[in-house]
Amino acid sequence: MKGIILAGGAGTRLYPLTKVTSKQLLPVYDKPMIYYPLSVLMLAGIRDILLISTPSDLPNFERLLGDGSQFGVHISYKVQEVPNGLAQAFVIGEDFINGDSCALVLGDNIFYGSGLSHILKDAVKSAENGYATIFGYYVNDPERFGIMEVEEGTMKIKSVQEKPKHPRSNYCITGLYFYDKRVVELAKKVKPSKRGEYEITSLNALYLRKKSLKGTILGRGFAWLDAGTVDSLITASEFVQMAESRQGIKISAPEEIAYHYHWISKEELLASAEMYGSSPYGQHLKNVAEGKYLY
Ligand code: G1P
Repeated sequence: MKGIILAGGAGTRLYPLTKVTSKQLLPVYDKPMIYYPLSVLMLAGIRDILLISTPSDLPNFERLLGDGSQFGVHISYKVQEVPNGLAQAFVIGEDFINGDSCALVLGDNIFYGSGLSHILKDAVKSAENGYATIFGYYVNDPERFGIMEVEEGTMKIKSVQEKPKHPRSNYCITGLYFYDKRVVELAKKVKPSKRGEYEITSLNALYLRKKSLKGTILGRGFAWLDAGTVDSLITASEFVQMAESRQGIKISAPEEIAYHYHWISKEELLASAEMYGSSPYGQHLKNVAEGKYLY
């Protein structure tokens, strides 16, 4: 199973914050935003990752994440010349995917909750068995998102819509998608929408038509945040700060996940901790290496 992080877009809703840097490199409390979606792919057990961004931002992601070895994964990079839709990620990533199943996570999406890794691993299994999985989250403002209409009781998906004026449900589709090995072939069939974009919702609609789309609801025990506006950015930081300081944990520390999954050694974890200097993040990695946390 492969994984793609899409970290493109001009980020104009955050101007002037994103005038000279990428939205997905902005801080969410104590770490760059990109650490959060990277951690989600890693929690799913995905170790072969492609990061897609704009021509000007891509070198900064490379400077930050390197080849991924610090996180026990392999990261490669590709440019999206024009931000013309999320479904294009699979066309840009065709060689990288190389006929495999593939997950996609948006670079500004933050997921947190107990049992997340089990849910993610179920989605990986489904993708390997020929299904796509999308995740629904109940929101008060569904018209801002892609939404899924579900059958009461069975929670089977009846329809998917992209930012509808009159949403048929309050279950928004989060920016995390798992697809089987048909993904590139189907992504190529997606036609541009009215606003001229290759929508991920159109790809999901193709999977739905083939009766191959599963929906998993992330219930009230989960936090899902998108950090694409000034207000949601500070809300995300406040949420992470509150959760971390109360329990003394770190949310989405990729090196910690890598160590926990035995992808890096204690020595490698300590070397990373050293590199982060005297920051709280570096200190946390040292604590993890010293076995201060139980899982
Ligand atoms: C995109 C998708 C939308 C999804 C959202 C999640 O919208 O098009 O279906 O609900 O991400 O973050 P965007 O935020 O790019 O407008």
